Amino acid sequence: MVHRPSILVARAIFPEVLERLREHVDVTDNPADEEWSGDALIQRLRGQDGVLTTGAQRIDEALLRACPRLRIVANMAVGFNNFDVPAMTAAGVVGTNTPDVLTETTADFGFALLLAAARRMAESEHFLRAGRWDRWAYDLFAGQDVHGSTLAILGMGRIGQGIARRGAHGFGMRVIYHNRSRLDPATEADCRATWVSKDDLLRQADHLVLVLPYTPQSHHAIGAAELALMKPTATLVNIARGGIVDDGALAQALRERRIAAAGLDVFEGEPKVHPDLLTVPNVVLTPHIASATRATRLAMANLAADNLIAFFTRGQALTPVNHPDRQRTTT
Ligand code: 8YV
Repeated sequence: MVHRPSILVARAIFPEVLERLREHVDVTDNPADEEWSGDALIQRLRGQDGVLTTGAQRIDEALLRACPRLRIVANMAVGFNNFDVPAMTAAGVVGTNTPDVLTETTADFGFALLLAAARRMAESEHFLRAGRWDRWAYDLFAGQDVHGSTLAILGMGRIGQGIARRGAHGFGMRVIYHNRSRLDPATEADCRATWVSKDDLLRQADHLVLVLPYTPQSHHAIGAAELALMKPTATLVNIARGGIVDDGALAQALRERRIAAAGLDVFEGEPKVHPDLLTVPNVVLTPHIASATRATRLAMANLAADNLIAFFTRGQALTPVNHPDRQRTTT
């Protein structure tokens, strides 16, 4: 009899995606949407051939050793810093992510945070809701212009390019970027973006948007020293990952008005948020929702499912992040 693969879907997802998966594989789901990590995750993963993760479940050497049947981990996220990729490759386990389907939605949100921070939308709404608006004033919540200003992007992948296009073509901004590798000239021209060094990026930014992957090298890429290079009128937006910004140093810089404002969708140690960020007024805070439109989250779940289905039916995942020389086989 042919072995029917079995998978774990580690968090609650769209029922229609679960149904589609069930046409091809045996599925254990998580209708209560419990958060499993470490031993709790290992316990549920033992004996499974695959898993659909959402970006919070850490896949490391210990888990791979404890789950020898596991052959594929399909992340419902474009970022995959929850994967120990070398350990997965060495163990013959394929990892996949969900590129492209969330690019424009996430770029929209990055731009929304930039506008909200620069134009002080959250701060002024709190003021209004608190019943403190009793008269007009010439400088009431006067913020920073977005149109015609300098948009600086750190990390120029697909989402960074989407933000650059919005800035250049929609808001007449001058776009500068810093990335490990330069874009090809055609893409630079399309984004109207110019490569600069990281220090120049920080010094020249009116609005700095972070869209780089989280790696040991990008840990605290923006800390006290980097913030000190920025203009006192600058805004900072982080839609990348918590840990790229030193949140404590940022809260201090915001409180001392060493930069004007920030918009943050991701936090070091989330869903916990650095307590100092909760008490500074000039920051817009959102709970990691940059990709959260119904259509995009459904597309992400479907792509993660398609990776599992393609892997188990045709032996080839659609958007792998690694290519093990020898993949694990079901025994
Ligand atoms: C996800 C994200 O919502 O895709 C990513 O990398 O950060 C978000 O779109 C999150 O990772 C949970 O899957």
